[in-house]
Amino acid sequence: MTLHPVLVPVPDEFPLRSPQRVAQQRRAARHALEVCAGLCGAGPGDWPCTPDGVPLPKSGWHWSLSHKRRWAAAVIAEQPVGIDIEEVLPRDERLYEAVGDAAEWAILGSRSMDAFYRLWTAKEAVLKACGVGLAGLDRCRIVDVPSAREVVVVLAARHWTVTHIEHDGHVASVTSAAAPVRWHPVNSVPPAP
Ligand SMILES: CC(C)(COP(=O)(O)OP(=O)(O)OC[C@H]1O[C@@H](n2cnc3c(N)ncnc32)[C@H](O)[C@@H]1OP(=O)(O)O)[C@@H](O)C(=O)NCCC(=O)NCCS
Repeated sequence: MTLHPVLVPVPDEFPLRSPQRVAQQRRAARHALEVCAGLCGAGPGDWPCTPDGVPLPKSGWHWSLSHKRRWAAAVIAEQPVGIDIEEVLPRDERLYEAVGDAAEWAILGSRSMDAFYRLWTAKEAVLKACGVGLAGLDRCRIVDVPSAREVVVVLAARHWTVTHIEHDGHVASVTSAAAPVRWHPVNSVPPAP
């Protein structure tokens, strides 16, 4: 089944990093989830999570979301799924080593900022699909780059195909289980009730 990850902009009326802005990020991500539910036929309603905020499946549908200062993303699938979005900002190159080892960088081919964000968001997406968060980072490895828009990540002996998109200065990644992926950038979030 085609995956329909949704991207929505975060309204900018509050200062970056303010509690109100973070609340808007979270609301934007939930709006993306609602749009995605309509696209994939999962239906309306709240999406359950653990007390720690880890998403729980509902009626056989798995879900994941991500929100940064300017954009949020969400996805729903019939199998475990993870999504991550990051704004492409200059980073200290020492972080490259923290996110990937020499073998992974050799597979990626170049130590560019773009490759860094592909690596980072792909691993985050897989960690979320497995529900383990950052605790699993050391066990997560890139093992293949099938195309300019895909990487394969291994975690706990399972291979995950991850698909990327570049959008408005951001990189987003979703675990796709080899399903076709159709990204849906949305223009705005409805005003808060
Ligand atoms: C917990 C974690 C998933 C949060 O990621 P993040 O990039 O800070 O935040 P995102 O906006 O992308 O994702 C947050 C959402 O992930 C979900 N989430 C939280 N814990 C999760 C878990 N264990 N598994 C799956 N999803 C989880 C929640 O829905 C949360 O949204 P909410 O806070 O609005 O409820 C974790 O991976 C983390 O702390 N990452 C820090 C970023 C980093 O340093 N990455 C290193 C490079 S690989």
